[in-house]
Amino acid sequence: MTETMIQPTSVDDVSAGLREAGYLAGESTALVSFLATKLDKPVLVEGPAGVGKTELAKALARYLDRKLVRLQCYEGLDEAKALYEWNYRKQLLRIQAEAGDTGWSDVQEDIFGEEFLLPRPLMTAIASEVPVVLLIDEIDKTDQEFEAMLLELLSDFQISIPELGRIDARTQPVVLLTSNNTRELTEALKRRCLYLWLDYPDLEHELEIVRLHSPGLQESVARKLVEIVSQIRELDLKKPPSIAESIDWARALLLLGAEEIDAHMFRQTMSVIVKHRTDLDTVAARVGVKLEAAADARPAA
Ligand SMILES: Nc1ncnc2c1ncn2[C@@H]1O[C@H](COP(=O)(O)OP(=O)(O)OP(=O)(O)O)[C@@H](O)[C@H]1O
Ligand SMILES: [Mg+2]
Repeated sequence: MTETMIQPTSVDDVSAGLREAGYLAGESTALVSFLATKLDKPVLVEGPAGVGKTELAKALARYLDRKLVRLQCYEGLDEAKALYEWNYRKQLLRIQAEAGDTGWSDVQEDIFGEEFLLPRPLMTAIASEVPVVLLIDEIDKTDQEFEAMLLELLSDFQISIPELGRIDARTQPVVLLTSNNTRELTEALKRRCLYLWLDYPDLEHELEIVRLHSPGLQESVARKLVEIVSQIRELDLKKPPSIAESIDWARALLLLGAEEIDAHMFRQTMSVIVKHRTDLDTVAARVGVKLEAAADARPAA
């Protein structure tokens, strides 16, 4: 089983593999991903929205040819949804089927077996016969108790079920946790993880990502697009455009058959990249006006 598994041998290897899987990793992303596969340590990926945190886990799974098991975190997420739950309905049916001559102790032994467990993502990941990629997405949305439970799991790779005993990991998953930084995570969690800060990419890197997602877009338009997006990120906005928005914008421009991004085209499509009322005003005033001025300065053809 393990012989056929993809085992990266270098950072470049990971970089190339991710590229093949449709993800253009920066230097530190490739490095940390490589270490994660070698050191069996979880990776905590932090950064603003839409910079490719979730996609990194998906791409790693594609590259390593492993199944992706995803736990989407939210406020109030508990063990029953993250680890396991007893299948009450099935238990009840068994109790009913055995009703009458069977004593409680026999029934109890029966209904707390693995057969009556509903595994949730964390358990699925460590109980899997073949190693998986485990994505614990948006961990900052949970509370600290959940984080503490997770710590135990991530350091020991085992789960204790009171009625059943200890379940040890069958295989070691590659684990990625993502966070948008809405709250500070505990030091204890950070200590157990490798850390990757994903930020907005530099111009050339973003251009490459946009090209990958929108190969049909004219080179000059794509370049102008990433230039404008990077200018917009310099402004003081509620929500600066991310890579996700750049990609959407590229697709929109391609659909509209844009041959250049002039002031008119910009005003028509800017809501694809800027999504707050006040931000729209700021961007129109600062960038839109600049594009108009550039057009006025150009000699008429
Ligand atoms: N390095 C990259 N190579 C290729 N595509 C990328 C890259 N980075 C981001 N993308 C694309 O950008 C989009 C947004 O990425 P993703 O959903 O992973 O962001 P995120 O950081 O998880 O955002 P959020 O915090 O909102 O969940 C996806 O469509 C993804 O394919
Ligand atoms: Mg995400």
